[in-house]
Amino acid sequence: MEKKQNHFSGQLGFVLAAAGSAVGVGNLWRFPYLAAKDGGGLFLIIYFILVLTFGFTLLTSDIAIGRRTQKSAIGAYEQMRPKWKGLGILTFLVPVLIMTYYAVIGGWITKYAVVYVSGQASAAAADNYFTSFITSPVSPVVFALLFMGVTALIVYNGVQNGIEKVSRWMMPVLLVLVVVIACYSLTLSHTNADGQVVTGWQGFLYYLTPNLEGLTVQRFLQILLDAMSQLFFSLSVSMGIMITYGSYVRPEVDLNRAVNQIEIFDTGVAFLAGMMIIPAVYVFSGTEGMGAGPSLMFVSLPKVFAAMGRAGTAVGILFFVTAIFATLSSCISVLESITANCMEIFHTSRKKTVLVLSVIYLAASAVITLGYSVFYVEVMLPNGSVGQLLDIMDYVSNSVMMPFIALLSTVLIGWVMTPDYVIDEMERNGETFRRKKLYRVMIRYVAPVMMFVLFLQSTGILSK
Ligand code: PFF
Ligand code: NA
Repeated sequence: MEKKQNHFSGQLGFVLAAAGSAVGVGNLWRFPYLAAKDGGGLFLIIYFILVLTFGFTLLTSDIAIGRRTQKSAIGAYEQMRPKWKGLGILTFLVPVLIMTYYAVIGGWITKYAVVYVSGQASAAAADNYFTSFITSPVSPVVFALLFMGVTALIVYNGVQNGIEKVSRWMMPVLLVLVVVIACYSLTLSHTNADGQVVTGWQGFLYYLTPNLEGLTVQRFLQILLDAMSQLFFSLSVSMGIMITYGSYVRPEVDLNRAVNQIEIFDTGVAFLAGMMIIPAVYVFSGTEGMGAGPSLMFVSLPKVFAAMGRAGTAVGILFFVTAIFATLSSCISVLESITANCMEIFHTSRKKTVLVLSVIYLAASAVITLGYSVFYVEVMLPNGSVGQLLDIMDYVSNSVMMPFIALLSTVLIGWVMTPDYVIDEMERNGETFRRKKLYRVMIRYVAPVMMFVLFLQSTGILSK
């Protein structure tokens, strides 16, 4: 095997770094929102089943391909089948696009952490606070550049001394913080305008109970598609990131256990995020108060924190610190994946590569941030929503490219390479790959069909 200087020290370091990539805003602002919108427990059940089947299949494939080829996406696909190098390039382009806006979101979160630390919780709860912040031309740019700079510094320090070192303390702390806030959420209670006492526990039951009211076949399919697209965004699969991280795993590590642990970590944090957010929103603003995406984190939650009174500042600080950790570890993985591909293509050193990429992405982050002010645009996306620069990047990378890439790579693994390519790697040290039969069926038949439908749906073709 080719000797590589870049390796995680062992299983734990790898699992925490990969979990760092997986746990991000998807867990904090998308999962709770979808669970509340898509029938609570019904969504949870569907999501958990999909994690164990579909998510497991894609995550296993990415990691096994990475470790087997010892390369990042472009090199890995080329090594498997030279004719499929194009798919590698396409895969590489996903983090290239995501990187233009991920630090922007990280910057917003950092700004809010600073706001809560400096005791301005009530200002953050004011109407239009978020809009006026992101549309101002200076402050959000400064925070985006800061976030981008910290990310670059960590990646500059390498796999073990940068990424692994940071993940090793950040991920356990993140887990503790989420548990603490979730427990606090359950203890909340508040008397609403009608004089009724609403408790966090009731909100928790609302989250867990399957809501079958008005369930039609069409709605069920919609929930299924929501869960599916959430799932592969959440696990950071089909964008080459897990291929890169997989290429840093030592040959003796048991990938079966690693895959399980990453799935449990990501899904556990998603569930806990729902447990901290849904009861809190339920208590203070009822079932209608759940914002979607950024508006949940930056508009709905600040109002909830304000309603908590004095505790709100402390909870706000803990929450936004949690969110910084989640976003930073994901942002690191995006930059690392781009860096690794570039190092392999151009045969440049890590330090030089990171420096060049930093310059590019500092500029890109500034441009995307200014997409809300100086470079304001409004584009009607094919899925019917209206977006600015950030939403365009997000739409192209996550809604168009990711399902398309996932579809093609299931065809490559399932039919061209055949599933044994992955299975052999999973059993490299004589381990038993327990869900082998499931894997074969999923990668060859189920996953391609699901990805195809998801692609049609997320590009808006299905609804026309
Ligand atoms: N997996 C992350 C989440 O659930 O928030 C999102 C993500 C991270 C997407 C890294 C893309 C990426 F490159
Ligand atoms: Na996630």
